[in-house]
Amino acid sequence: MRNIGVVLSGRGSNFLAVADNVANRSIPDARIAVVISNLPEARGIELARERGLATAVIPSKGKAREDHDREMVAVLKQHEVALICLAGYMRLLSPWFVQQFPQRILNIHPSLLPAFPGLEAQQQAFAYGVKVTGCTVHFVDEELDHGAIVVQRAIPVLDSDDEHSLAARILEQEHLAYAQAINIVLEGNFEIVGRRLIHKKAAR
Ligand code: GAR
Repeated sequence: MRNIGVVLSGRGSNFLAVADNVANRSIPDARIAVVISNLPEARGIELARERGLATAVIPSKGKAREDHDREMVAVLKQHEVALICLAGYMRLLSPWFVQQFPQRILNIHPSLLPAFPGLEAQQQAFAYGVKVTGCTVHFVDEELDHGAIVVQRAIPVLDSDDEHSLAARILEQEHLAYAQAINIVLEGNFEIVGRRLIHKKAAR
């Protein structure tokens, strides 16, 4: 059984998608060991409580980044997590945090990286006028929205779209992409060559 830790700041729809995939064994042999929020009011942490999962609110306000990260790492290690999924965690992790879990932290971002890193990626893509956008699940490294890419899913931008309809269709893809990426990483049948995640051929 592999322990997953989820870290979020908001609504929690990606967390719920992961939780559903764990519950129905689309992500097999795994459990969500703990859900952490830096914001006490995050809807995601309430949803985790409703599901009976272990939760921790670790407020970030007024704390130096690494001090806050040390508190989160202590909780994640206590729950013996094999994988950490950032699911709408709207803060940068410190290099120290990233170094505690090499190739063990995933993030989901609502654009086809390296296009539109940072905040409000869907709105950035819409305003830029791209014809294709989507979402990216990637390993977290020490730079913002930067580590090796595990899964991307693309959708067309329709003439009839507005920012909201586009963000909603990207979100549907996010929920699929996160489960795919978690399975790839937990299976471990890959290597990272430069920035490229390459699937190893199945052993005969
Ligand atoms: C998602 O769209 C996620 O990709 C984005 O925040 C939203 C969280 O929604 N993350 C980022 O922009 C990180 N740079 P959720 O709380 O419903 O999962």
